[in-house]
Amino acid sequence: MDPLRLICVFGLLVLAQPRVVMDGTGLQKCGFQAIYNFGDSNSDTGAISAALSEVTSPNGETFFGHPSGRACDGRLIIDFIAERLKLPYLSAYLDSVGADFRHGANFATGGSSIRLGGYSPFHLGIQISQFIQFKARTTALYNQLSPSDPGKIPPFKSNLPRPADFSRAIYTFDIGQNDLAYGFQHTTEEQVRKSIPDILNQFAEAVHRLYEEEARIFWVHNTGPLGCLPYSYLYHNSNPGNLDQNRCVKSQNEIAQEFNRQLKNKVSQLSTQLPHSAFTYVDVYSVKYQLISTARSQGFIDPMNFCCGSFYGVHIDCGKKAIVNGTVYGNPCGHPSMHISWDGIHYSEAANLWVANRILNGSHSCPAFSVEEACQLV
Ligand SMILES: *[C@@H]1O[C@H](CO)[C@@H](O)[C@H](O)[C@H]1NC(C)=O
Ligand SMILES: *[C@@H]1O[C@H](CO)[C@@H](O)[C@H](O)[C@H]1NC(C)=O
Repeated sequence: MDPLRLICVFGLLVLAQPRVVMDGTGLQKCGFQAIYNFGDSNSDTGAISAALSEVTSPNGETFFGHPSGRACDGRLIIDFIAERLKLPYLSAYLDSVGADFRHGANFATGGSSIRLGGYSPFHLGIQISQFIQFKARTTALYNQLSPSDPGKIPPFKSNLPRPADFSRAIYTFDIGQNDLAYGFQHTTEEQVRKSIPDILNQFAEAVHRLYEEEARIFWVHNTGPLGCLPYSYLYHNSNPGNLDQNRCVKSQNEIAQEFNRQLKNKVSQLSTQLPHSAFTYVDVYSVKYQLISTARSQGFIDPMNFCCGSFYGVHIDCGKKAIVNGTVYGNPCGHPSMHISWDGIHYSEAANLWVANRILNGSHSCPAFSVEEACQLV
């Protein structure tokens, strides 16, 4: 293995603790048996749809053939993570219908932020409390059910996580975008910038709580270029001086990048504070920005154009229609795979796949391990 692969964000620290397990062929595969995910709509596989407001058709049309609880025409990055680890798609903890938690659970809910207050009641602290309760209750139930009895009514032992898998699972995060978005909507950009240290202290506290529950392996996505979402553009195009060459809102992206710089430091700090932990920081921002700036050569149309929902000065949600002065707004497009943006806020399956193909092999991670190898430093 190229030792330079280890030198990145955690730099000397990682070199000083060479605990990499090597076999003859290079890096070990971790053989993850469970994924526990925390986040917002970028990785919600059915929570907000079950709990608060149904995600309707045409969401899901490309891959699932029906609404799947995801704000997307198909799969999300977390689904591509599951595929890569050869595990089933994650059931949402809040979805009580047909859930299977043998290989993990998804606590991400649409609209969630790290801090309390914001678009959703299920902020990160609540998601962690849900996980702690989930772990305690499933463990008790698992130990109580007999192994052989398949049962006729749930709970089935085979739908519950194996208690021993909690300490060997991968804990994934994609959260923070709504802390910034809510801040931009309700406060000034300067206030948003000043709030970043507090947001990240709360992120660190969440990680500490998981660590106390035996979580060891963490995979952390940074936040994307919020200013490149079509809705950011539509609400800011009256000020062209604040748009970059890709028509992304410059000031919002600068603050997202500042958030990411501080997140990277925080993750590095956590990896020193918590013994026998393995953290991978994943630069989703750069990959999404690269996609937006090379859209056409990658086979996509104008990145500010989105497939589902509409905007005529007023926002028509994906799945709804409005007729204004005889014009129908809100018909979905015919070819979602040509759009980077599905609904003006969320990425299409085609874009999610493009991003997943570039982040999951480790080429944008620090340390540069793929998602299958994310346990190396434990
Ligand atoms: C609809 O017509 C009204 C009256 O002419 C006009 O003020 C408004 O801008 C039009 N709306 C759209 C979306 O075209
Ligand atoms: C990861 O995948 C991308 C896209 O397929 C490729 O360009 C890159 O070279 C790969 N990197 C590694 C480290 O395998």
